[in-house]
Amino acid sequence: MKIAGLISFVMILVTAAFAQPLYPDYYDKTCPQALSTIKRVVDDAVQQEKRMGASLLRLHFHDCFVNGCDGSVLLDSTPEFESEKMAAPNRNSARGFEVIDRIKSEVDHACGHPVVSCADILAVAARDSVVALGGPYWDVLLGRRDATSASKSAADADIPAPTLDLSGLINSFQNHGLDVHDLVALSGGHTIGFAQCRLFRDHIYNDSNIDPEFRRELQAICPRNGDDTNLHSLDPTPAFFDTNYYRNVLVQRGLLHSDKALLESPETGGAVAAYSLNLNAFAKDFVISIVKMGNIKPLTGDQGQIRYNCRKVNYG
Ligand code: HEM
Ligand SMILES: *[C@@H]1O[C@H](CO)[C@@H](O)[C@H](O)[C@H]1NC(C)=O
Repeated sequence: MKIAGLISFVMILVTAAFAQPLYPDYYDKTCPQALSTIKRVVDDAVQQEKRMGASLLRLHFHDCFVNGCDGSVLLDSTPEFESEKMAAPNRNSARGFEVIDRIKSEVDHACGHPVVSCADILAVAARDSVVALGGPYWDVLLGRRDATSASKSAADADIPAPTLDLSGLINSFQNHGLDVHDLVALSGGHTIGFAQCRLFRDHIYNDSNIDPEFRRELQAICPRNGDDTNLHSLDPTPAFFDTNYYRNVLVQRGLLHSDKALLESPETGGAVAAYSLNLNAFAKDFVISIVKMGNIKPLTGDQGQIRYNCRKVNYG
C-alpha cells in the first residue's frame, strides 16, 4: 500500500515534470466529434474562399515557430503582453482568426464543454486545409495545451523573413529542430496561397536570375512605389496542393527571395528539382516534416490551459 502510494506519487511528479507525447486519438473519449467538427468548418470556409486554406496552414506555422505550437499566435493584446498579431511577419498579413473562432465555438458546443485546445485546433485545421486543396492526409498528433501568454518580440525574432538567404533560412529552421530537408519540404507550403507586393518587391526589382517574362508580369502588378498590398499567387495554381511551386522555383519564377534561395546550394536545389517531378515524394516528405513541426515544444500534462476563447487567456 505504502509502496503503491509512493509509486503513484512519483508517477505524478514524473508526468508533471516531463512533456507528454502527443497522439492522434487524444480526444476520442472526451470529444469524439472534435475532428469531424473542425473538418466541417474548414471545408465550409475553404469552399467560400480557397485562399483560406493557405491562410490556416500558415497560421499553424507561425504558431509553432514562436515558443512552440501553443496557440500563442491567436491571443489578442492585453496589458501584460502585446499580441503576436502585431509582429512584422503577421501584421496586415496573418489571417484566418475568425475561422478559428468559429471552429472553437462549434467544437466546444459539440463537446458540451471546452476540452479541445486552440493549438490542436490550428494543427488539425492546417491538415484539413491541405486536404481540402487536394494535398495529402496525415494523422495529426494531439494533446497540445494553450499558452497563457504571447510574445511579439519572439514572433519578430523567430519567424523567418522572406529577405533571408539560404544560410539564414537553414539557421531559422535549425533553431526549431528542423533540418535542411524539412526546410525544402515545408517551403512547399507555398504551393498554395498568395503574397503581397511589399513582400516580393525587392526580389522582383533587385535580384538577378529571374525569368524576364515573370519579372515583367510581376512589375506590372507591383510598382516600385505604392500598391503595397496587391496580391500575386505564390505559384500558378494557388488553390491546388501540387508540385507547381517547385517547378516554378526551378525555372526562376519563385515569388519570394526566400523561395529562390532554395537554389543556392546543390543539396537544396537538388531537392527542389526532385520534388518538381514527383508529387508523391513531395507529399510524403511534407507530411513527415509538418508532423515534426507540429511537435515543436508543445505544452502538455498540467502545463498551460484549455482556453475558452482562442483570443483570450482564461482567468480564475
Ligand atoms: C521558409 C521560410 C518561409 C518564409 C520566409 C515565408 C514567407 C512568407 C511570406 C512573406 C508570405 C506572404 C505573406 C503576405 O503577403 O501577407 C508567405 C505566405 C504563405 N506561407 Fe510562407 N514562408 C516560409 C515558410 C512557410 C512554411 C513552412 C509554410 C507552411 C508549411 C508556409 C505557408 C505559407 C502559405 C500557405 C502562405 C500563403 C498565405 C495566404 O495566402 O494567406 N510558409 N510566406
Ligand atoms: C533596390 O536596391 C536599391 C539600391 O540598393 C534600393 O535603393 C531600392 O530601395 C531597392 N528596392 C527597389 C524596389 O528598388
